[in-house]
Amino acid sequence: MKKLTYLFVLLAAVLLTPACKSDFTYYYYDEEQTKVLAEYLNLPELPDDYTVTFPSHLSSAGLFTRAVERDKAVLGRVLFYDKKLSKDGTVSCATCHKQDLAFSDNKAFSDGVYDRSTTRNSFALGSVANFSAYYGTDLNGSNAIRFFWDNRAETAQDQSRGSMTNANEMDMSMHDITTTVASQPYYAPLFAKAFGTTEVTEAKVLEAVANFVNAMGSFQSKFDQAANSSQVSFSGNFGNVVFNQDFTGFTAAENRGKKLYNDNCSSCHSGNMGRPVLALANNGLELNPTDKGVGAISGNSNEDGSFKVPTLRNVVLTAPYMHDGRFQTLEEVIEFYNTGIQNHPNLHSFLKVNGQAKKMNFSAQDKSDLMAFLNTLTDDHLLADKKFSDPFKQ
Ligand code: HEC
Ligand code: HEC
Repeated sequence: MKKLTYLFVLLAAVLLTPACKSDFTYYYYDEEQTKVLAEYLNLPELPDDYTVTFPSHLSSAGLFTRAVERDKAVLGRVLFYDKKLSKDGTVSCATCHKQDLAFSDNKAFSDGVYDRSTTRNSFALGSVANFSAYYGTDLNGSNAIRFFWDNRAETAQDQSRGSMTNANEMDMSMHDITTTVASQPYYAPLFAKAFGTTEVTEAKVLEAVANFVNAMGSFQSKFDQAANSSQVSFSGNFGNVVFNQDFTGFTAAENRGKKLYNDNCSSCHSGNMGRPVLALANNGLELNPTDKGVGAISGNSNEDGSFKVPTLRNVVLTAPYMHDGRFQTLEEVIEFYNTGIQNHPNLHSFLKVNGQAKKMNFSAQDKSDLMAFLNTLTDDHLLADKKFSDPFKQ
């Protein structure tokens, strides 16, 4: 009997030993996958968590985010930074959407393949609280905010296809994209985790990029902290929630700027920096716009010279400004709204007084207060967040 027990203990010890070895690790990617990934990419052993959780001031205003699928976002991150997905191998999404600039570019027109340039200013992907909350007709129906300055794309997938196939941007066909992706060894493990198969299709590539873009979020600025911690009342609705009272945690100048912003700008750009209130507007940049914007897509002349209303998160980082990058500084933008609005027939009524283009009559103090307020919209957290950074080994 004793002998049997002894044997049993010995057997158990032998069987258990490998599992107790000190180098026991849990591999999310198996050893072969880990080896391939590590050769090309700096990815953490366990995939990053891409869950987006809104601060209370946005969720209590009725904004909610869609679930992001982690492994698809991880794959999307690699696709977003991969220059091989362009015709001349020099351009990735990140070329024109740089993390340290809130995913915008510092040029009026961005450089695409073969030194071609885009015809509009790059959109700051970090100018919104989160795309998935209110962008995309697939989730938000006719209420959705669409993509691009002229609202021409309905979903993040449509938008990505547009960028990949645009001759001035990446100039690929979707067939080129899928064959290029299929021939890079590092994609097989990422596809296996994201889709349960290594087979590359156009739909999967676009879905992965969309998950990454939809996971980007800017909701941790000084403005958000103040909005969350100030127990102040707000008025307005889902569309335009305006914080009427001063924020504790704001300087006097920032609070004065907030009031000026609420009175003159929030009716379009949104008071809680949530969803833009209007999908599009003519803000009176010029009387005879050469770029007709939304009107050129819809064919409706009442929409000529109208462009998407951007939200202004991280706006101090996203110069130059407007769809064509015409203003180099925010001071120039404020001066434009102060004295330069043109009375185009389609000028939005929010920028008119008695049928004429509004003059805002800002004093020098007002202008610097507005600047102080716009500075509270910078989200350093997004700019430094590693899970949105370039994963490629240089
Ligand atoms: C060569 C520069 C360039 C490249 C490369 C590029 N973009 Fe863009 N992106 C732009 C420009 C310019 C716009 C605005 C164009 C317009 O609205 O007509 C834009 C707009 C967008 C928008 C719309 C944002 C909004 O609020 O409507 C998204 C999202 C976006 N790009 C994501 C991507 C992704 C994902 C990729 C890679 C697949 C990519 N971009 C590649 C320059 C670029
Ligand atoms: C009628 C709606 C409306 C009002 C009111 C309004 N804007 Fe705008 N704003 C727009 C539209 C539309 C655009 C995009 C125009 C374009 O690029 O052609 C824009 C663009 C901007 C941009 C450029 C953003 C970028 O990323 O290029 C800034 C900055 C801006 N507005 C600030 C303000 C400020 C500050 C106020 C108040 C003093 C204000 N806006 C009032 C509609 C409005």
